[in-house]
Amino acid sequence: MSPVVPFLDLAAMTREIRGTLDQGWERLLDTSQFIGGAAVEEFEQAWAGYCGVRHAVGVANGTDALELTLTALGIGSGDEVIVPANTFVASAEAVVLTGATPRFADVSPKTLLLTPADLEAAITRRTRAVIVVHLYGQMPDMDALCRTAARAGVVIIEDAAQAHGASWRGRPAGSIGQAGCFSFYPGKNLGAFGDAGAVVTNDADLAKVLRVLRDHGRTTGSHYRHELVGTNSRLDALQAMVLTAKLARLDAWNQARRSVAARYQAAFASGPVRMVEDEAGALGVYHLAVARTPERARLQQRLTEMGIQTGIHYPIPCHRQAPYLRFATGPLPVSEAAADEVLSLPMFPHLRDDQVARVCDAVHEVLAAKEVDIA
Ligand SMILES: Cc1ncc(COP(=O)(O)O)c(C=O)c1O
Repeated sequence: MSPVVPFLDLAAMTREIRGTLDQGWERLLDTSQFIGGAAVEEFEQAWAGYCGVRHAVGVANGTDALELTLTALGIGSGDEVIVPANTFVASAEAVVLTGATPRFADVSPKTLLLTPADLEAAITRRTRAVIVVHLYGQMPDMDALCRTAARAGVVIIEDAAQAHGASWRGRPAGSIGQAGCFSFYPGKNLGAFGDAGAVVTNDADLAKVLRVLRDHGRTTGSHYRHELVGTNSRLDALQAMVLTAKLARLDAWNQARRSVAARYQAAFASGPVRMVEDEAGALGVYHLAVARTPERARLQQRLTEMGIQTGIHYPIPCHRQAPYLRFATGPLPVSEAAADEVLSLPMFPHLRDDQVARVCDAVHEVLAAKEVDIA
């Protein structure tokens, strides 16, 4: 039986761009340029423009975007990179893949994002970079984080995998640090029809090295001369074509997500769940709408029974994941408490008003029922 309220509906987005896709597909078949070529360059230019930077380099996925950026910056064995514990594992995975050591930092109890104090506390003599994660499509206080990082000589890399179109005091996600790394995994705010990613930057040298690294370390203009040990992390023309088509809709879709978020915030302003807060100064894009409750398990189960799909982002903080335990340096209480309480409510641009109302009513109903039981 299909859910009354799905967590995400990708088909509705695809329907909106169907005509453009058909034309793009025809063009692609005519040219047979499946890797690189005009479609990739067109998207890279459009994405750089959208993010307000000079360069965008398409890669195979968001994890590669992070790993290749670290590698291109010369970060590896012997270096430490600070990563918030409350993130998807890829933020830390990319660090380990370079041979560097992730050092986990705790997050704000209000936003669940990195704070300058948490960053400061995690800095050591070996720290080379910090991965600032715009989790849930929200941005932390980037001015304060930049000041703290600059004082310590630490490079900021933005993990904007969930934050396409978010901004901090008008500056787009991805454009503030040395580089911004994006995933275009299908469920993201800007999602491809498979895996895809990109790095955006104003640093021409960094962009140049990334272009070499993503393509087997090939010297530009030569097919069988290799100047670096690279990898195969190219963006497919098919995905680039899909992304260009969807980019025209991104602002409208993000606006629709904001309206849904505003309705959740109003419905739960005085309980029974607490929505994760936004930082003043940030314009979020609500990749996820995250509520908190100590009664998460019961709420999620009852919502499932009522046909309302939810998710948990994320049930285990990074420093408590088995392969990362060896990097843990102590308890990170905010991240650990959040992992037990967060529940992501249905969120996508085409979520109807009656579906949002159904979710709000259901949450009130389930959590009120408990109070009656106890009484
Ligand atoms: C915060 C964050 N960072 C990195 C990634 C990695 O992206 P990908 O799955 O495209 O490798 C994701 C994707 O899920 C993510 O949510």
